[in-house]
Amino acid sequence: MSDNTAKLNERLAEWLPREETQAERLREAMNYSFTAGGKRLRPLLMAMTYEAFGGEGPEIEPFMAAIEMIHTYSLVHDDLPCMDNDTLRRGKPTTWNVYGEDFGVLAGDGLLTYAFETAAKAFEVTGDPARTGRAMSILARKAGLYGMCGGQALDVLLTGSAPSADQLDFIYRNKTGALLEASMMIGAVLAGADGEALENVEKAAAAIGYAFQIEDDILDITADEAELGKNVGSDEKNAKTTFVTLYGMEAAQKEVRRLTEEALARIDAFPMPAPSLKELVAGLCSRRK
Ligand code: IPE
Ligand code: IPE
Ligand code: MG
Ligand code: MG
Ligand code: MG
Repeated sequence: MSDNTAKLNERLAEWLPREETQAERLREAMNYSFTAGGKRLRPLLMAMTYEAFGGEGPEIEPFMAAIEMIHTYSLVHDDLPCMDNDTLRRGKPTTWNVYGEDFGVLAGDGLLTYAFETAAKAFEVTGDPARTGRAMSILARKAGLYGMCGGQALDVLLTGSAPSADQLDFIYRNKTGALLEASMMIGAVLAGADGEALENVEKAAAAIGYAFQIEDDILDITADEAELGKNVGSDEKNAKTTFVTLYGMEAAQKEVRRLTEEALARIDAFPMPAPSLKELVAGLCSRRK
C-alpha cells in the first residue's frame, strides 16, 4: 500500500461510527468491511474532480467517506448468499461469513444510512449549503432505484438467463456506473460546476464505470484470487452473462481501451489540467485487482 493510500484510509476511517452502543456487534460488522481494504477509487475520483474544478474546502471529505460507505454496503450485500454468494472480499472472509447473514444485511443497512448521516455533516462546514444539498440529492439518486440498486436488481433478475445487449448495458451503467458518476459529479458540484460542464463529468464517469465493470469481468476470469482479494470465477459459478461471455475477451479488452480514451478526452475538457486523475483512469485498464 502506498503512503498516500494509507493516509487516505486513515482520513476516511475517522468518519466511521465511534460511539459505543448496545448494538456493538453491528458497529463492528459495519467497520469490518470498510476497514478491510479496497482501492478507494470512488473517494479518489471525487477528490480529484473537485480539485480539477477548483474546489478547496472541507466539505468534500464527508462526501468522500459517504460514497465509500455506500460502495462498501453494495459489496457487503452483493456477496450475500441470496446475491452472488461469495466468501472472500478485500482479502478477507466476506461480512456475512464472519458475522452471519442477518448481520450482513444489517451491516449494509447501517452503512447506507450512516453514509447520509456523514454526508449531512458537510452542512456544518460549508459556506454554500445549496451545493451541499445538490450533492446529497445526487448521492441518493445514483445509489437507489435509478442507480446502483436498479442495476443490481436487473443483474440478479437476469442471472442464469441471457440478457439482451440493451439489458446488459443497463446493468453496467447502473450497478457500477452510477456510483462512479455520483463520485465525480459530487466533486464537480461541490466546486460549483453545473450545466454542460457537469454533463461532461457525468459522461466521463459513465465511460470509466463501464470500462471498470468490463475489466472486473475480465479479472473474474484471469486474475489470481489471492492478489484480487475476492473470489475468482464468481460469474461462471452464478451463470452470469457478462460483456466477456457476450462479445468475447478480445472485444472486451478493446472496449475497455476505447472507453478509457473517451474518458480521458472528456477529462481534458475539465477547467484545470488533471494529470493525477488522468493517470488514475488510464491505470485502471491494466489493474490486477
Ligand atoms: C468492486 O469494486 C465492485 C464493482 C463495481 C466491480 P472495486 O473493485 O472498486 O472494489 P474495492 O473497493 O477495491 O474493494
Ligand atoms: C457488482 O458487480 C457491482 C456492485 C454494485 C456491488 P460484481 O458482482 O461483478 O462485483 P464483484 O465482482 O463481486 O466485486
Ligand atoms: Mg454481483
Ligand atoms: Mg459480486
Ligand atoms: Mg465481478
